[in-house]
Amino acid sequence: MIDGKILIRPMSIDDAVDFNRLVGVVAREHRYLRFLDAPSMEGTVNFLRDSLAAGNPHLAAVADGELVGWCDVCRHSFEIEAHVGRLGIGLAPEFRGRGFGKALLDVTIAAAERLDFQRIELTAFADNHRAIALYETRGFVREGIMRAAARFGDAYRDIVQMARLAPSLSDNDATTAEAAD
Ligand SMILES: CC(C)(COP(=O)(O)OP(=O)(O)OC[C@H]1O[C@@H](n2cnc3c(N)ncnc32)[C@H](O)[C@@H]1OP(=O)(O)O)[C@@H](O)C(=O)NCCC(=O)NCCS
Repeated sequence: MIDGKILIRPMSIDDAVDFNRLVGVVAREHRYLRFLDAPSMEGTVNFLRDSLAAGNPHLAAVADGELVGWCDVCRHSFEIEAHVGRLGIGLAPEFRGRGFGKALLDVTIAAAERLDFQRIELTAFADNHRAIALYETRGFVREGIMRAAARFGDAYRDIVQMARLAPSLSDNDATTAEAAD
């Protein structure tokens, strides 16, 4: 799919080196991710290989042949949480604020729901207003705040927990009542 100047396509293991590089670029901003730097290359290759083999959606945003964004949803491993996935997203700095994140997120949510993810959850730093605003337009709601859950040097930051339920679950208000006993 082409959206403006970016191509959104499934990621493959061949993207691992570029993925590692891009995660490193965003991590080193020390504003948006929980990593302070890129994970090890071996860690990225193993993560991507295992997650693709598990059937998780991994989307790549590409501009002029270069990886400029990623969005993925990784399924939880416990059987009772197999309907739940954790979403991650990031764009290279020069590609932000132009609607590409929205496009990438929409394609990834659609892919996740085709794969029967019924709850997509994520965390964001509470001061990541752009990401939180984007998530809210896509049906994610704030479920809680983890106070002072991250520390960057001397600065403590709150983390917001958010989730989006698939339409079939959003209407089901019996879920918690049934679980009460
Ligand atoms: C979060 C991110 C993926 C969003 O993608 P993006 O392309 O920058 O965002 P978009 O241009 O699609 O804008 C999405 C919405 O955010 C809102 N928004 C944009 N800039 C904003 C700002 N500075 N403050 C608050 N809201 C803002 C707008 O509501 C916009 O929707 P609209 O176009 O309908 O008005 C991208 O900014 C990014 O990679 N940030 C760094 C990494 C990161 O934060 N990852 C998420 C960690 S939880």
